[in-house]
Amino acid sequence: MSLRKIITYPHPVLRKKAEPVTVFDKELEQLVVDMAETMYDAPGSGLAANQIGELRQVIIVDVREADEAKNLHVFINPLIVAEEGSVTDVEGCLSVLEYSSNVKRAQKVRVSALDVKGKQFEFEAEEWFARALQHEIDHLHGKLFIDHISSLKRTLYKKKLKKLLQEQEEAA
Ligand code: NI
Repeated sequence: MSLRKIITYPHPVLRKKAEPVTVFDKELEQLVVDMAETMYDAPGSGLAANQIGELRQVIIVDVREADEAKNLHVFINPLIVAEEGSVTDVEGCLSVLEYSSNVKRAQKVRVSALDVKGKQFEFEAEEWFARALQHEIDHLHGKLFIDHISSLKRTLYKKKLKKLLQEQEEAA
């Protein structure tokens, strides 16, 4: 197992589209293990392969409460096949430093995906799980949650981030 570095905005790799997975081998299993280790270490409740610089359509989600046992879900080549309702709630991202904002998402989604062995399955999720799935699937298309907020809010965030990164550089 190895911990991978989480790439942060505005790194251009986060804007690239991930390719569908076609080979289901030990190497893919290792990627999923590394992603899980990286997500739990962060800690976060979801991670897309783009975030560690792998442009493959792999996402993982674990929306358990802090005091619950790990409950890892792996989705390969995930596709939202149905969605229902809408709900606005606060969202953040391991790749978007020091920021969270309200984002409107479908309340319920049905996702079609493959497991790590290449077997197709369908999965239905609501509320936080549905939100996490939509957020992570966005990553696979080079999209971030800040693309869903107003351009004014995004401009303010970019200014804040620039200042933060400058301060980090000066401190280094
Ligand atoms: Ni994210």
